[in-house]
Amino acid sequence: MARQKHDERLHDRKFVRTFFTSPTAVEGEEDSATMIRSAAGLSGMQAPDVWVPDNEDATAPSMRDEGARNIIEVVSEEGADFPGEIHPRIVWFRGDPGTRHQCLTHLMEIADPDNGAIQHIDGFVIPEVGDIDDWKKADEVLTIVENEYDLEEGEIAMSVIVESGAAELAMGELRDEMGKPTNNLERLFMLVIGEVDYTKDMRAITPTGNLPSWPEVRHNTSRAASAAGLISVDGPYDDIRDVEGYRERMVDNQAKGLLGIWSLTPGQVVEANTNPLPPETSRWRMDTGGRTVDLEDDDGVQVYDGNRVSLEESDDEYTLRVGGDEQVLDEEDLREELLGIVEYVPSMDDIVDSMEEFEEAREGGTGAIAMERATTVRIDGVEVEVSNDRMWDEATYQAAMTPVSLFQDVYEHRPDQHDELAEMYSEDVVERAMDVGGA
Ligand code: GLV
Repeated sequence: MARQKHDERLHDRKFVRTFFTSPTAVEGEEDSATMIRSAAGLSGMQAPDVWVPDNEDATAPSMRDEGARNIIEVVSEEGADFPGEIHPRIVWFRGDPGTRHQCLTHLMEIADPDNGAIQHIDGFVIPEVGDIDDWKKADEVLTIVENEYDLEEGEIAMSVIVESGAAELAMGELRDEMGKPTNNLERLFMLVIGEVDYTKDMRAITPTGNLPSWPEVRHNTSRAASAAGLISVDGPYDDIRDVEGYRERMVDNQAKGLLGIWSLTPGQVVEANTNPLPPETSRWRMDTGGRTVDLEDDDGVQVYDGNRVSLEESDDEYTLRVGGDEQVLDEEDLREELLGIVEYVPSMDDIVDSMEEFEEAREGGTGAIAMERATTVRIDGVEVEVSNDRMWDEATYQAAMTPVSLFQDVYEHRPDQHDELAEMYSEDVVERAMDVGGA
């Protein structure tokens, strides 16, 4: 493996939106591999970026030997056609040599090239790691397996589930440890949060028994991934019917740079594949006192049509009510006030427009330009013009590039999603988005 600076990405994929687990063996089914067999057939927006045949928590301990054999059977048959990467999760436990031995046994079986599966497997997911020495043990097991089968050292990627305080602290040591000649930790690919087991490990209690949302672990994982050139992925959102909650979690994660998330169901896969991509259409929205609502576009005028905000005009004065708060304002103060509660969500088309505008200015020798956003807002029939200027410099441009880079990574690696993306954005926008940023 090429030695690079650790904060440069070392793997093919720069982004992983979806990490989808499926049980490897289900007792009582005619075909115990039924779940992974159907997952292997997914494509388009329904197929995850990373598929994880899960021979750990999703599979009963008594079924895991059979699960390892099922992985071999299904991946050897279907792996070549699967559009995402394949990273099975195998057993491991920081405090238990017996489980680590089972890891070695399963790996020797799954990675044996004669069984035909390893050719389609990109890496393995190691759960329940502890401190950095434990990560190195797992890495060493993979090195032994590579050695046994004449694979290149470091060729099999390793991702870990961060689900203990020890593992969370170990992430801070990666920059020092990766690249030492005594380990192959540069095989690391994803840092995946396991909030369920983390909650247990931290001995956390909530009145409802629901999981805490652990914003600190999510921040720490994103930071560690950035520092070590890895990809961070949030853990399972177990309230699987709560689609709105899953979306809110993703928006919160994305603001931390945690762009991937676990998906437990095919429905969650579609949500999580789509959510981090910029929207197809732009919109204005308004904070109506704790709740943000989209404004309705009426021929370029943005209309608020609810009852949490009201506006009256009389004798050059305006009475604005937001929630329980009432203010009497002149026109200029009203504009200011509205600017504080109205915001613009750009579409992919808009983002690309702004980037092209900046690139043009930069080529012409200008390093910073003001980008104006203006519209007319209508509340209770009263129309007010609002506009703001945002200063764009090189740093703004680079930060705005992240969603576009994500799109470019998806487009490059997921040809099976091209039709859906073209339908979403139009061919023209797709083409321009692929072009921007010198890609
Ligand atoms: C997953 O392994 C979790 O503990 O959330």
